[in-house]
Amino acid sequence: MTRKLLPALYHLGRHGQLSDDFRILGVGRSSEMDHGALRRTMCEALVEAGLGRHRPEEWCERTIYYHSIHDNTPEDFARLRCAIETLEREHQLTSRRVFYLALPPQAFPGTIIGLGEAGLNISSGWTRLVIEKPFGRDLASARELNDIVHRYFDESQIYRIDHYLGKETVQNLMVFRFANPIFESLWNRSQVESVQITVAESLGIDSRAGYYEHAGAMRDMIQNHLSQLLCLIAMEVPDAFDAEAIRDEKNKVMRVIAPVQPDDIVFGQYQWGTIEGEEVVGYRDEAGVAASSRTETFVAMKLEVPNWRWQGVPFYLRTGKRMPRRSSRIMVTFRCAPVALFKPYACPVNANVLGITLQPEEGFDLQFEVKHPGQPLTVASQRLRFRYAEAFSPLPDAYETLLLDILAGDATLFVRGDWVERSWKLYTPVLENPPAVEPYAAGTWGPPASKKLLARDNRVWLPV
Ligand code: BG6
Repeated sequence: MTRKLLPALYHLGRHGQLSDDFRILGVGRSSEMDHGALRRTMCEALVEAGLGRHRPEEWCERTIYYHSIHDNTPEDFARLRCAIETLEREHQLTSRRVFYLALPPQAFPGTIIGLGEAGLNISSGWTRLVIEKPFGRDLASARELNDIVHRYFDESQIYRIDHYLGKETVQNLMVFRFANPIFESLWNRSQVESVQITVAESLGIDSRAGYYEHAGAMRDMIQNHLSQLLCLIAMEVPDAFDAEAIRDEKNKVMRVIAPVQPDDIVFGQYQWGTIEGEEVVGYRDEAGVAASSRTETFVAMKLEVPNWRWQGVPFYLRTGKRMPRRSSRIMVTFRCAPVALFKPYACPVNANVLGITLQPEEGFDLQFEVKHPGQPLTVASQRLRFRYAEAFSPLPDAYETLLLDILAGDATLFVRGDWVERSWKLYTPVLENPPAVEPYAAGTWGPPASKKLLARDNRVWLPV
């Protein structure tokens, strides 16, 4: 809330992108908190986030209110309704309401039921419900949560957040594919040899052991962020650029992915190591982590998308904490030339690779082969290179994009209920029967088994 959401709201407010009648009603359990105390806390958070120079006090004073709730009883939600209506009346606000559930997942069902039973699922304007991940922890719990949400809210009112979808470079995947026919015509099994998706983080788990111990990399990253990236790479061209058409195509990808084979997945957990010259502790030594924890902080896996376009093309996914650096890249390797024409000159010819960098150096590189000047004939790899930072001003924050879309009622960048269930359906068998967790030193690219997963197919992880 204070790390991402609040700075994004403040930034939008300061740049006039929120309407004059925008207000935040913070709802929490603390009865000691009041409007003034919450405003002070939020102001401090903004200063801490480096946003203090424009004096956020005034914005906080005008925008932020507080209401305390006790035990999620029907009376509590009736009082909340009253507080909302009073705020709207006193400030002559139209009833356009967003309920943003930035809550621990176990609080989702009770809160949604409370809101619905109090009649807060509808208003004279519009009402939208925003749910942060994790949406369920397996297929059964995701279905149960979807059932509860749908009891009170129509799917068109629900905005399930996956902040990766708000990143400019992730949105650009669709523009890149569908506005550049030269790439789209290569985007299939005849031309693409394999796809690698890596989301590597140098960070550990900070102070999030309570959450992470129950999540692990599979639930934290693979089920949502990396699977969304996979869908954007593998989906067919939607018949329109709108939320339903795009999300329909993503669903088709999830539906066709073959079940993950036990030999095709590797779990790892970081141990003591060094990153950029700094020593870091192992996962089991992090505060709040059990000494015998088997939670995976690294996953590498191979998936098949056996449809007309992708049959036979492996998709390798990899994510981990405490990797050597932060880097999220998608590498699309194209097929080699059908005949080794330059073989007599003993010069190896590399495959063409399209590297799409989602962060930190947003952009892409297309690797191709050129003749090295001089004799004897040799071939060398060069790159065509595009960097967002060189072409455009700083990229907007993902949360700002998503918040504006919620207010505008555009669900294109949000996760639909059926996609969530398909994704959990694919990964629940792995979660129920996980592979052994293998150790890796912090500051490395995961356990040796990750390399072997590709070596088995005569491939290597491309540098990211
Ligand atoms: C979050 C995960 O969804 O994404 C975190 O819960 C992870 O564990 C984060 O660190 C990564 O996001 P980003 O935008 O920093 O790549």
